[in-house]
Amino acid sequence: MTRQNKIDFYRPPLGRAEQAAINRALARGWLTSGPECARFEEEMCAFLGVKHALAVSSGTAALHLGLLAADVGPGDEVITTPYTFVATAEVIAYCGAQPVFADVEPGCYTIDPGQIERKITARTKAILPVGIGGLPCRSDRIRQIARRHKLKVIEDGAHTLGATVGGTPIGRWADATAFSFYSTKNLCIGEGGMVVTGHTAWYDKMRVLSRHGISKGTWDRYGNRGWAYDVTAQGYKYNMSDLLAAIGRVQLKRFAQLQKKRERVDRWYRALAADIGGLSFPEPAAGAGSAYHLLMVRLTDPALINSRDKILSALTQRGIGISVHFIPLHLMTHIARRYGLKHGDFPEAEAAYRATMSLPFFPEMTKNEVRFVTDTLREILRDPE
Ligand SMILES: Cc1ncc(COP(=O)(O)O)c(C=O)c1O
Repeated sequence: MTRQNKIDFYRPPLGRAEQAAINRALARGWLTSGPECARFEEEMCAFLGVKHALAVSSGTAALHLGLLAADVGPGDEVITTPYTFVATAEVIAYCGAQPVFADVEPGCYTIDPGQIERKITARTKAILPVGIGGLPCRSDRIRQIARRHKLKVIEDGAHTLGATVGGTPIGRWADATAFSFYSTKNLCIGEGGMVVTGHTAWYDKMRVLSRHGISKGTWDRYGNRGWAYDVTAQGYKYNMSDLLAAIGRVQLKRFAQLQKKRERVDRWYRALAADIGGLSFPEPAAGAGSAYHLLMVRLTDPALINSRDKILSALTQRGIGISVHFIPLHLMTHIARRYGLKHGDFPEAEAAYRATMSLPFFPEMTKNEVRFVTDTLREILRDPE
């Protein structure tokens, strides 16, 4: 995303309401976690229909807390996907546990339940599936596997706030689900996240761990009563500031309306690119509903796939913001070295990566902007060399 772009990769939908919310929080003079965070958590519970929500400093922190709540620790294995952002695997290492990667489903972007089953050992403690670009993982089958093998599921919902499976929002089926509010996410506040769970004991534990293992929040300590507190566990500094929660509350209120806009932009793309050969749009699995987080397209023609990087460069040169979601983790130096992985280990993830591009996508994108992108792409694909 650069200002020189004719079409930015992403533009956050921020306006007067967000500005007013920041002013309100500033006027209150309480900048760290306080009443705005508490309301944001309540409102997220109501929005998703979940019992507990904890506002934290990032999606990464939310994932880490979910794993800690599941008692993931040294000696444990957690099965996850290589087709994700590095945070997903990183948090498993934070716990001293081992990420065990399972390939994605052929032609898809999410973890293959059959591959999960193959990777289960006596040391497996949890499964960490990831929704990609708005498309949920195969939650029905993953839930069955988890039940059968008595495993916990911590879901990475960074891309799937607003997605559904069987009409049920993502956030309800897993033991814990982590959402990210990073500046390009569907609900964006710059940096932040939320972990939701139906388990009260998990919530209590995550809340304490997110505040240095302190048994009372700062609002209780300074705002209401008493100065005394205890440190009851090894904790982390993962709380969210009230300034950001104030923006988050506005974004949540606008969420349904912004999702409608995302869906409309997605529809424009599909209609305006319908005649472009050698290109496909990922679809949610039967019964699932997308969160419309990214506009990913997949090249289907082998010659075009070979030219994918040139196509991306040509789009950039023509002023179109692009990205690639994702470079599989086993192709990253650190992950390959640390876990003894190499090219070829996850062929479906590699095939997906080689053929995929993310195009500009944001709720306020106009039909003319979409047309500019699809016209440019059509032209480039005709002669990518
Ligand atoms: C799939 C996925 N998981 C986790 C994260 C981490 O979220 P955060 O940047 O809020 O820590 C991201 C962020 O981009 C992500 O894309």
